[in-house]
Amino acid sequence: MPVVPGLFERLAFRANLAPSAILDVHGGASLHAAALADELGVFTALDRPRTPSTLAAALDVDETALRTLLDSLVAVGYLARDGDEYRRTRATTRWLTPDGEANLAPFLRFWVDVVLPYWRDHATRAVREGDPGETLYEWLGDDEEAWATTQAGFRSSASLLLDPVADELGDVEGLRVLDLGGGHGAYAVELARRGADVTLVDHPAALTTAREAAAEAGVDVDIVGGDYLTADLWARLDAPVADPPERVPADAPVDARGGATAGGDGPTRGAREGDAGDAGDAGYDVVLLFNVLHGHTPDESAFLLARASGVLAPGGRVVVLDQFDADGPTNLADIGVALLDLTYLVTLGGGTPDVDAVNRHLGDAGLVVAGSRTFRRAPGVRLVTADRA
Ligand SMILES: C[S@@+](CC[C@H](N)C(=O)[O-])C[C@H]1O[C@@H](n2cnc3c(N)ncnc32)[C@H](O)[C@@H]1O
Repeated sequence: MPVVPGLFERLAFRANLAPSAILDVHGGASLHAAALADELGVFTALDRPRTPSTLAAALDVDETALRTLLDSLVAVGYLARDGDEYRRTRATTRWLTPDGEANLAPFLRFWVDVVLPYWRDHATRAVREGDPGETLYEWLGDDEEAWATTQAGFRSSASLLLDPVADELGDVEGLRVLDLGGGHGAYAVELARRGADVTLVDHPAALTTAREAAAEAGVDVDIVGGDYLTADLWARLDAPVADPPERVPADAPVDARGGATAGGDGPTRGAREGDAGDAGDAGYDVVLLFNVLHGHTPDESAFLLARASGVLAPGGRVVVLDQFDADGPTNLADIGVALLDLTYLVTLGGGTPDVDAVNRHLGDAGLVVAGSRTFRRAPGVRLVTADRA
């Protein structure tokens, strides 16, 4: 549970009688305490009440130090204490363990182990110069362990919306789906489970989590390693790459990484890393861009949407999911969107996408917006569906 002051303390902060910034310091420590507890296995081991001595023995940690950690977790509400026994609160069971509805613990670990170390080295430059110099993904490089922590974090935050988003896509049985920046593979696996023929694209070093997820679920997902801002990747996809629609703006990059034209002078189609599938050159029925546009410049987004549109089968659709830069329905939504905007600037040189700009890029890509919906569970997140005109 994040640090929440009591009523009189809130009034004191509002009256400016005390420095409310101290709450951020407590919040930072609370984040680290929860991530540490997850790393040590405290939350899973407390599937039943335990004394510090039995817990310390089970986790192979120092009992006195463990008591200190447990008491800090009681103070912020992650645990409760009855006599000498500690137990999980209902909120912890529901949101921070595999026994609950969605396990966000890997997302906390991603922040502590990946985002914050990166942030320390890149935030100043990001704000001074407008970009961090290298994106978080470039910084991860070939470090498969750090990528696994990252994808586990993304997957855990995606788990909040997995079912409603998959439901929103309707009956996907037999459809060809292209999941751009599919990362951890949770969406790809879920759609494959529902009968879709799914191809997932992501950075080559980022693919282990998706491969494991598909194997664990016993479904086939074509997993393609590559950079979707390059012509090479689009030439390797098992679908015709149409010329960009006429309405693509003249200044949109033909290859956002400065390479050759996809489907024009670009490299010839190469072998895919994964099983290439047998759907031939039919094009994709659905192309997903889930939580990717926030990492890109408007030109890159225009390029991506034009390419996505270009590989659609007749009647196909592009579906964008992101944390949009729009007025949220709640205070928390506004705070979340503002802080995410800063996070995307620092980590990716990007920002929360502007819904009007995305709609414009969809139109420029020859697509017509067919639907747009938000999710009560994730304020600020919007799913936009656009059909080939
Ligand atoms: C925030 S994650 C989203 C994962 C998943 N789509 C979801 O919604 O949970 C963004 C993903 O896009 C991938 N990505 C970013 N830029 C990419 C690029 N140029 N080419 C391929 N993948 C890229 C990242 O590696 C990462 O896995």
